[in-house]
Amino acid sequence: MGRHNFLSIRDFSPEEISYLLDLAREMKGHPWAHTRALRGKTLAMIFEKPSLRTRVSFDVGIQQLGGFSLYLSNAEISLGKRECVYDIAKNLERMVQAIMIRTYAHEIVEEMAEYASVPVINGLTDFSHPCQAMADYLTMLELKGNVKGLKVAFIGDGNNVCHSLMFTGAQLGAHIWVATPAGYEPKAEAVQWAVERGQKTGSTCTLTPDAVEAASDADIIYTDVWTSMGCEQEAEARHKVFAPYQVNSQLFRRAKFDALFMHCLPAHRGEEVTNEVIDSAHSVVYQQAENRLHAQKAILLELMQYREVLEPARIADVESHS
Ligand code: CP
Ligand code: NVA
Repeated sequence: MGRHNFLSIRDFSPEEISYLLDLAREMKGHPWAHTRALRGKTLAMIFEKPSLRTRVSFDVGIQQLGGFSLYLSNAEISLGKRECVYDIAKNLERMVQAIMIRTYAHEIVEEMAEYASVPVINGLTDFSHPCQAMADYLTMLELKGNVKGLKVAFIGDGNNVCHSLMFTGAQLGAHIWVATPAGYEPKAEAVQWAVERGQKTGSTCTLTPDAVEAASDADIIYTDVWTSMGCEQEAEARHKVFAPYQVNSQLFRRAKFDALFMHCLPAHRGEEVTNEVIDSAHSVVYQQAENRLHAQKAILLELMQYREVLEPARIADVESHS
């Protein structure tokens, strides 16, 4: 595939996204096939926000490929305060072979990628969550056989998870419906990109304030928390606005009889989803969570397998001192 970074689903062609998903399926089916592929290589993981799945799946994923990970919380590096992004990139590139970063502004991830000579992976920003979307569509492929033509309904906040779900659906030919309260729609540039890419792939992207319209005859009903990390001060106001968008049994019944319930997790049970739905036979949320591991192993393998532990610039350093 030859890509250097994994920052956004939009940076890839539909063929490249399908290739990565095929690789993830192959790796999930043959977990012992690549156990030495990244031996001796280290992934730095920068977390400015908390995480369960992203941290564990990257940590376990790189270990299963023979490498190591390094957890860097904001308490250690205090990104942008103790040190600027440029200096962090220039230090890390000399010691690790890839950087995964979870942060606030999407521009920080782009800046890190611009300055670091090693691959950078977006582990969630306020704008997008591409690794999550790869696991989501891997799950749909496993359970529905094909993504093309599926009606995928995202109900709730037009947030980072919603954006990446839209981008990947557009790449793979799904029909995306997004139901949000007024003022909480996905970003216009994200919608425009999904619509334009959809013209090439047969995908459509439709926004509506009507949760029932989005849910009707859907193959997938997807929701996420009403208050994302970083918006905590808005939680009370959001609680009121989003109440009509709760995914409960009454709404879920509008979907196809074999519809799947999906959620990136963590879930706030009783808010965006009821226990009855998330614990039902339609719910695939833990398969989705496991698929973070497999999807990211494919991404790590693709970005890191041909990187040398000693980069050319460092070989020059060594030679000039010998
Ligand atoms: N879905 C997800 O990214 O989970 P974490 O925030 O726990 O990593
Ligand atoms: N939209 C959520 C996703 C968490 C994985 C957030 O940004 O907090």
